[in-house]
Amino acid sequence: MLPTPIEARQPDVPMTREELRSGILDLKRDLNALILAHYYQESDIQDIADFIGDSLDLSRRAASATADVIVFAGVHFMAETAKILNPKKQVLLPDLKAGCSLAEGCPAPQFRALRAAHPDHIAITYINCSAEVKAETDIICTSSNAEKIIRQIPPGRKILFAPDRNLGRYLIKKTGRDMLLWEGSCIVHETFSMRKLAALQLEHPGAELIAHPECEEPLLERAAFIGSTSALLNHVRTSPGRSFIVATEPGILHQMEKQAPGKEFIPAPPEANCACNECPYMKLNTLEKVYRCMKYREPEVVLDSELMARALVPIQRMLAMS
Ligand code: 13P
Ligand code: SF4
Repeated sequence: MLPTPIEARQPDVPMTREELRSGILDLKRDLNALILAHYYQESDIQDIADFIGDSLDLSRRAASATADVIVFAGVHFMAETAKILNPKKQVLLPDLKAGCSLAEGCPAPQFRALRAAHPDHIAITYINCSAEVKAETDIICTSSNAEKIIRQIPPGRKILFAPDRNLGRYLIKKTGRDMLLWEGSCIVHETFSMRKLAALQLEHPGAELIAHPECEEPLLERAAFIGSTSALLNHVRTSPGRSFIVATEPGILHQMEKQAPGKEFIPAPPEANCACNECPYMKLNTLEKVYRCMKYREPEVVLDSELMARALVPIQRMLAMS
């Protein structure tokens, strides 16, 4: 008997992984869509993406997109950035609730008030923020270009950095610049347990600790290498090291295992006995939601055109400075 075509099935009938994959590839061709994915997405999503990257890579890829539709397998601020860079294209996000604790912890009215209280400060804001906050900012940065951007700010100029205080503190140490920091943090990168990490390092004395700069200071102090997700991936590929303890969201281990086969990757342990080192926002996206958003062309990221025009300015400054 011939299998029932996907289109003819009831919406509640589950599809197999293979059906979803081939359905997504068919829809990609029909819609002339580009699928962008962040390294924290589940492995099945990474495997069907046209491009996987860190926030900067993804912004650059979105800026040069020629497709009619961008499917953004990542979180809301990333899809918003793609929309701001492509106001005429349709940008789909598999789950609109895929937010970010950093973006949520920095509401635009409070950010505006902080800026108003410090009118002599230039605002450099991490890309993990809403379009409204971007529109109030001078320059956007990501974890891979923040240091380079800060080094381009004239020495006498005061800097306000939002919303990640851990990345901010790390940048103060790296650049020697005194910056006023917003008190935000990432719920994933602050879960790692120093006690369990020390035990893990004793168990694996040859393993190199590598970390994302959103991690807290005591962990960063112990790390042999610190960088964005792309930088971490590049490091494990090119380093002579054979074993790594990875202090970031474990979704990245999929690409590490693919791109550095034969090496050992150990996820840094969270304090609680749970999967709280997984980003609950990133993991809202599933292969099925990717398929459904392409089939029904929703949820779509929709933004006010005046807001997009204002938010574009600091993003373009970032792209020019990095
Ligand atoms: P990257 O830009 O390094 O990929 O970081 C994005 C992010 O949200 C980290 O938590
Ligand atoms: Fe935001 Fe942290 Fe998730 Fe990255 S890992 S998207 S910073 S909540």
